[in-house]
Amino acid sequence: MSNAPPLRLGVNVDHVATLRNARGGRRPDPVRAAQVAIEAGADGITAHLREDRRHIRDEDMARLKAEISKPLNFEMAATADMLRISLLTRPHAVCLVPERREELTTEGGLDVVGQHNVLAPFIAKLNDAGVRVSLFIAAEPRQIEMAAQLRAPVIEIHTGAWCDAVVEGHKDKAEAEWQRIVAGAKLARSASLEVHAGHGLDYATAETIAALPDIVELNIGYYMIGEAIFVGLSETVRTMRAAMDRGRARA
Ligand code: PXP
Repeated sequence: MSNAPPLRLGVNVDHVATLRNARGGRRPDPVRAAQVAIEAGADGITAHLREDRRHIRDEDMARLKAEISKPLNFEMAATADMLRISLLTRPHAVCLVPERREELTTEGGLDVVGQHNVLAPFIAKLNDAGVRVSLFIAAEPRQIEMAAQLRAPVIEIHTGAWCDAVVEGHKDKAEAEWQRIVAGAKLARSASLEVHAGHGLDYATAETIAALPDIVELNIGYYMIGEAIFVGLSETVRTMRAAMDRGRARA
């Protein structure tokens, strides 16, 4: 048995809302998806209220907070409006992410070095409100050190570049990105940050990264919602959980 701390699975339900919004109306309901995911073994639910409300809407976030039995991780850009909504919602956690309207998904990490003046008051207000703040960053030493200086308790390492390289079969790039993640997770732990990871993970990459004992939470959405089309969401969550458990046993 491994002595690594438990690894939590946060299921991101954004793309259930994407599907709902394709036709307007109420179905499929992201809150129902969250409940099904929790019943199947998710430790928490993540949802991203984007400024353009392209998937999750304000009402979804309020209902998730009211209706789910596990912690809610509220992803958002660092804007005054989002700060106001998150303080009203009082989620368990807020994950601050960069956001550009034209992007298809969150393409890179937050530049906490360049934006430390903007982020500092956000982090302080959320810390004061008892909301656990996480900064979504690339596994770069400068960014990690600044996150610790800003007194964010958590970072989430952006795994997108690694996952893309693995899926596309770019071995050298995948190895370089993996080594960055390994070193970044270690550095962050040594700075007393709690370390999460996410973006682009599938069963195989989740199993691999689960073996890093410095990481205690994975947030996964797009792949799982896609798989759920074929085998159902409960089965997808159980399969992901099993992949993570196999990886963790090697930690
Ligand atoms: N973590 C963060 C901070 C994200 O922004 C996203 C994407 O919304 C994810 C995790 C999940 O990424 P994916 O949907 O690719 O699994």
